[in-house]
Amino acid sequence: MPKVRTPCTCAKIYLISTTTTPSLGPLHSLSFGWPFHNTMSAIHFRAPTVRKLIGVAVLATGVLALYSYSTGTPLRFTSFQTPWSQKTCTPQAYSDGTWVYHPRTNATKMTDPKDAHAFSGFEACASSREYFWHLASDREDQWDRFPKAQSWQWVPGRGCEDMRSLDPAAMVKDMVEDGGWYLVGDSVSENHFFSLSCILYPHVRAEPDWTLGGFDRAWPQYLYLKPDSPMIPYIKFPEGFNISTTPLVKFRRIDILLSQEQLIGIHNSIQPSDTVLEDASLFSDEAVWTMPPSEYLAEFNAPLPEGNYGTMIVSTAGHWTTNLFAKTSPPGIEGVINLFREAMKHWMDEVQMALWQSHKLRSAKMGASQRKRPRVVVRAYLPGHENCHDHRDPWKKIQPWNNRWFNWADIWEFNDVFDKLTSDNKKYPDIHYLGIDRPARLRPDAHASGDCLHIMSGAGVLEGWSHYIWQYVTRELS
Ligand SMILES: *[C@@H]1O[C@H](CO)[C@@H](O)[C@H](O)[C@H]1NC(C)=O
Ligand SMILES: *[C@@H]1O[C@H](CO)[C@@H](O)[C@H](O)[C@H]1NC(C)=O
Repeated sequence: MPKVRTPCTCAKIYLISTTTTPSLGPLHSLSFGWPFHNTMSAIHFRAPTVRKLIGVAVLATGVLALYSYSTGTPLRFTSFQTPWSQKTCTPQAYSDGTWVYHPRTNATKMTDPKDAHAFSGFEACASSREYFWHLASDREDQWDRFPKAQSWQWVPGRGCEDMRSLDPAAMVKDMVEDGGWYLVGDSVSENHFFSLSCILYPHVRAEPDWTLGGFDRAWPQYLYLKPDSPMIPYIKFPEGFNISTTPLVKFRRIDILLSQEQLIGIHNSIQPSDTVLEDASLFSDEAVWTMPPSEYLAEFNAPLPEGNYGTMIVSTAGHWTTNLFAKTSPPGIEGVINLFREAMKHWMDEVQMALWQSHKLRSAKMGASQRKRPRVVVRAYLPGHENCHDHRDPWKKIQPWNNRWFNWADIWEFNDVFDKLTSDNKKYPDIHYLGIDRPARLRPDAHASGDCLHIMSGAGVLEGWSHYIWQYVTRELS
């Protein structure tokens, strides 16, 4: 079993607030999250000292300005807003917003699966995995959902006025300098990975190449910085970072966060002493992909050039069903949630311990201020929507359930377990719960073509997760 590795030898310099980032790619003309808070206009009605500061910084970054003029892309001043940020764009504030109609195209209908790119504001997607399934344009009989499904923007609630626009160029820079993203979860997290591969295109390439044939859900998936990304001259690379082998993003399919053996053990250990389980095997034979935390924590903490991760993004609940956990005691969803509650305590303890260990090793090598603490964010899991393909618009309010499909009506309880556990931030200072599920809960129209749980890339839901997580780890956490 892999252990926590030796510390990373990288020297890091953090640029805090005075760098401008040239914005590249088609996404710079749109922002998934805050459409009206962008570049110059937002700056102009701030104090005159702001303009002075901008003047100085623009002089200091003349090269960038030249670059910007020569490519015709506008400079972005969003990073200047940092000094005024009050770190108030909490997950709650972000979630307390609305979807506003904001089409990115004048087209009125889909005539080709590739139209989904333009409708979504993507140039293309780097991942080749189930490409048009992820964009939900794989079924012509549902093309009447487009481009409307991609024509909404999430406007977050009060406190998020200074949120940076989703900026792929700035994101890849942060993913090198601040550490990459390591995604842990089920097929919905795989949706998230695919969407990231579209947001960050053309700065990234993806592995594996699924067009070569064969597939295994257990294969890790990666995004790497492309050597021809125009951002390369503007990134401060930590020592040892290898553009061709050090990932920016990694996804591991890990449905239930612990191994089945570990969960069987925990299940046994929480039974009242007078209980004798007739069958302690806990699971049905339903397929599940998972591994013990020690394995993925070792990957997350691996030193350069193998790893340069700063943020682990975790989400689970969808596979915690009475079908998979068929033999809990007590039986039924109550037994599953009970087990989940206990299992997540174990998980939190092990993860926080590994984060402490890794932080200690890293800072012993580099000095405490050289590197941010590695952190884990738990993204709220998301139930699907009943009869989702009948819907063509976002909701204004989350609607009650008519049926109890899968464990959807109970998902809130799983999220609540993380919400409560992480609220003890003395015990778990580096694990954060992001209750940012509301935007997605309001989007029955944003699902994949074949089911009502998976979410299409480009509708703003998955992109909103990336946008907020980026904001949270680079701005809200200090
Ligand atoms: C839509 O058409 C108008 C008028 O021709 C044009 O100004 C605008 O830029 C177009 N919008 C998009 C998103 O292409
Ligand atoms: C990066 O990794 C590749 C593949 O292993 C290797 O060929 C190359 O020499 C490495 N580059 C550096 C700068 O170490």
